[in-house]
Amino acid sequence: MTTVQYPQGADYQLAMQHADFALVDPVLKHGQIEMRPDRGTIPVVRSGGFVFTYHLHLTHGSDKALRCYNKAIPDLFARYEHIVPMTRRAADLFLPTDFQRVGILVNGQRYPLMVMEWVAGETLNNWIAHHLTSAAIGSLIPQFDQMLRQMAQLGIAHGDLQHGNILVDDQGHLRLIDYDSMYVPALAGLPPADAGQRNYQHPQRRGEFDARLDRFPGIVIGLALRALQADPTLWPEFGISGENMLFTREDFLAPTRSPLLARLRGVSA
Ligand SMILES: Nc1ncnc2c1ncn2[C@@H]1O[C@H](COP(=O)(O)OP(=O)(O)O)[C@@H](O)[C@H]1O
Ligand SMILES: [Mg+2]
Repeated sequence: MTTVQYPQGADYQLAMQHADFALVDPVLKHGQIEMRPDRGTIPVVRSGGFVFTYHLHLTHGSDKALRCYNKAIPDLFARYEHIVPMTRRAADLFLPTDFQRVGILVNGQRYPLMVMEWVAGETLNNWIAHHLTSAAIGSLIPQFDQMLRQMAQLGIAHGDLQHGNILVDDQGHLRLIDYDSMYVPALAGLPPADAGQRNYQHPQRRGEFDARLDRFPGIVIGLALRALQADPTLWPEFGISGENMLFTREDFLAPTRSPLLARLRGVSA
């Protein structure tokens, strides 16, 4: 098997400056890529681990997030073959998603593209920073619990639950994004796509890939939300790194030395 070398940031930036040419889909071709307000010919790109994400505005139809891969994910095509139908089946949990095996042309080569509905909103950590009241944070807790329950009932897991993969939309509703690491039963036997964000994963997690993947991150997030609801002043002290939501991997590794856990002992719910 040949390993695909994926394009890098500069290649995708150039491609997105000529999105009408680079995008293969005839509808997407007619959209406008969001450009930087200060420099109108430079696309706005959001980058995390495996992808560069662009925002495409469509005059007819809803806006899209275009996710362009910069690293190989083992069995990417097989994963999405089973993940996409699940996003349709559980449409209240996931955003409408379309995986295009040949979606974008970069330097004359064809690459896959993940196209999903665009959510106007903020990532969970940014939203919290802008809505730092007990009532606002409290409004997320039943939604988050319900999300976890629903995934457990379906026997699936998001696989990388963390603040950057949960958006809060304009109506204050939680929306899950970034389905690369998802577990659905049809994928049993595969290795995990990645290890998940370090500040949300159990330190003894090894190569597990099953329906229980969200349990530990679910506890980390659920507990952080409850602690913040009880005491929003925890946020400036423990939450503003941009890399976590109160808890860090160090707290899991050495709970007895954790300043956060010591502080939480004094917080009453
Ligand atoms: N459907 C979407 N709607 C709005 N913003 C999105 C969407 N998908 C991704 N983003 C933005 O792009 C960032 C990175 O996207 P993500 O899919 O999480 O990629 P990565 O695998 O790099 O983490 C997100 O944190 C979010 O800010
Ligand atoms: Mg992500």
